Amino acid sequence: MRVLAPILLWLPAALSITIRSPSFVSYDSYQVVRVKTGQHLRTVQEKLSTLSYEQWNHDIHHHIDILLAPGQLSAFQDLAIDYHVMHENLGDSITAESELKARWKRDFGDLSWYDSYHPYEEHKQYFDDLHAAFPNNSEIVSSGSSYEGRDIYGLHLWGDSGPGKPAVLFHGTVHAREWIAAPVNEYIALQLVTGYNAGNNITQLYLNKYDFYIFPFVNPDGFVYTQTNERLWRKNRQPGPGNSTAIGRDINRNWEFGWDANPLGASTNPASQVYKGEAPSDAPENKGLDKFVRKLRDGAGIKLFIDWHSYGQYILTPFGYKETLYAPELGKWTKAASIVSETIRDSSDAKTTFTFGPSGATLYTTTGAAPDHVYSVGRAEWSFTIELPDTGDFGFVLPPDRIRGTVEEQWAGQQALWELLDEEFFDGEGPAIYLGM
Ligand SMILES: *[C@@H]1O[C@H](CO)[C@@H](O)[C@H](O)[C@H]1NC(C)=O
Ligand SMILES: *[C@@H]1O[C@H](CO)[C@@H](O)[C@H](O)[C@H]1NC(C)=O
Ligand SMILES: *[C@@H]1O[C@H](CO)[C@@H](O)[C@H](O)[C@H]1NC(C)=O
Ligand SMILES: [Zn+2]
Repeated sequence: MRVLAPILLWLPAALSITIRSPSFVSYDSYQVVRVKTGQHLRTVQEKLSTLSYEQWNHDIHHHIDILLAPGQLSAFQDLAIDYHVMHENLGDSITAESELKARWKRDFGDLSWYDSYHPYEEHKQYFDDLHAAFPNNSEIVSSGSSYEGRDIYGLHLWGDSGPGKPAVLFHGTVHAREWIAAPVNEYIALQLVTGYNAGNNITQLYLNKYDFYIFPFVNPDGFVYTQTNERLWRKNRQPGPGNSTAIGRDINRNWEFGWDANPLGASTNPASQVYKGEAPSDAPENKGLDKFVRKLRDGAGIKLFIDWHSYGQYILTPFGYKETLYAPELGKWTKAASIVSETIRDSSDAKTTFTFGPSGATLYTTTGAAPDHVYSVGRAEWSFTIELPDTGDFGFVLPPDRIRGTVEEQWAGQQALWELLDEEFFDGEGPAIYLGM
């Protein structure tokens, strides 16, 4: 249903020209390469230890993805190790990513929104417009403010007799550089609104059963910084403690539950990409998000929580903080994850598949991460991290022409998941463990 006046707002030709600061890190002539590891992991790590590089991935059993400065390239080639190039020139990839090829006009029904990436302010407008199209069944909500004072906005959606049903809660762009997370959240919100308005009985069924709370940007400062200054920024933009000149806490290591449970799960070094902060929830983003989680818990409860990340194509469940600890619900979570993965695989010719399992055992140990907290403290019945595409052709810098396919397959996956949320047949199966696929 089209309720907006047809305001035509032609966008500037390129994101880069409009919002980049003079100090934008160009990454010109930087290369991203995937180094094969497997049984040679030790040897490879030893060889790499002679270089300076930034590592992109954490699960290094099969490969390590690394970013190399131009000055390191010849030394890297001299190592004579097995690798292939992900980004020949990362600077060119970032420039290409920021060009708005589609000329999206301001109309949420125009799907060319999903053909390019957008500035933060436009994302905010997109949700305002979506709310305006669904005024009696939605509201814009806030999970507090970021360090720099940006609103952590979300859309709360409900059906015929709502609001007040158990919550489905989504957090996107937890890590600033994982740009694909926001369009996925937005596309799901769009499908709910347009499907409901069009009388789609499946959409109506879920909106009548659950209250959706969709937050596409829980780390808005970091996201804005990736567009103005440094495309590969991950954390929030809060200054480090004391005299430290380092910036940023990792919002996904700062949650209260299990915050200090395992020294391997996060870093106490303010300069680290996985800096946990000085105390649980000492990042303003976490403080607000946690308050919101507890409010939902104490209301109608949390049915489903998803923390949306990229990259790697994983569907992960608690626990992250202890790899040998299996939750009683692990059997049903894992079975559901396998069904979601199959649904996504069969939904398009891309045949995208996901690896699934408990996050600590499947990927690596994480302390103070959201899915453990929202399950243990928020008492969410279902709690996931979804690591979106790809598996490493492009990593964080996923080209805009991959957005549309990714959002569509996630919409297919979510419908399959929602169908399972109230199923009883999983009960009594016990914690069967299926790792990988
Ligand atoms: C919202 O509810 C009001 C009051 O019941 C009604 O007048 C209006 O038509 C509704 N709007 C939509 C878009 O359904
Ligand atoms: C939705 O409607 C279609 C067509 O009328 C019907 O076949 C299907 O069973 C309905 N699904 C639900 C969940 O009500
Ligand atoms: C910070 O720097 C000041 C001045 O150099 C110094 O006096 C102080 O001890 C430092 N504080 C910490 C916590 O290191
Ligand atoms: Zn992430």
